[in-house]
Amino acid sequence: MNSDPLIARATAARERAIAPYSGFKVGASLRTRAGKVYDGCNIENASYGLTVCAERVALLKALSEGEREFEAMAVVTDADTLTPSCGSCRQLMWEYCGDITVLLHSLKGLEQTHQLSELYPEPFDASNL
Ligand code: THU
Repeated sequence: MNSDPLIARATAARERAIAPYSGFKVGASLRTRAGKVYDGCNIENASYGLTVCAERVALLKALSEGEREFEAMAVVTDADTLTPSCGSCRQLMWEYCGDITVLLHSLKGLEQTHQLSELYPEPFDASNL
């Protein structure tokens, strides 16, 4: 198992998830290159489409604080399979974080480490414009 402390941060963030509709709690923690960590959890809404994923909460918190250089994102759930971030989060992570390390962890005892470029190959980005 990965002993990266980012997993513990995301595990704690997951406890703050607001997920009454899906019951699927997600925690995400994003580490800057300078070592600062921003945490997020999923925040659901009765108008389901307004739900915001944990990864985006962490990323937008960091960006809004002026952070621009990132190193790793941890994503923690208690699912039977790992949760490799939805397509919208991958797109945003690619745009603002580049090819960071993504640590996927399930409290059921699963774990994988990827580069974002593996999870999101052939992305659309500014180079396509
Ligand atoms: N969710 C995340 O927070 N991150 C992911 O990577 C996948 C999905 C949330 C959104 C919603 O609140 C719940 O998980 C079920 O889709």
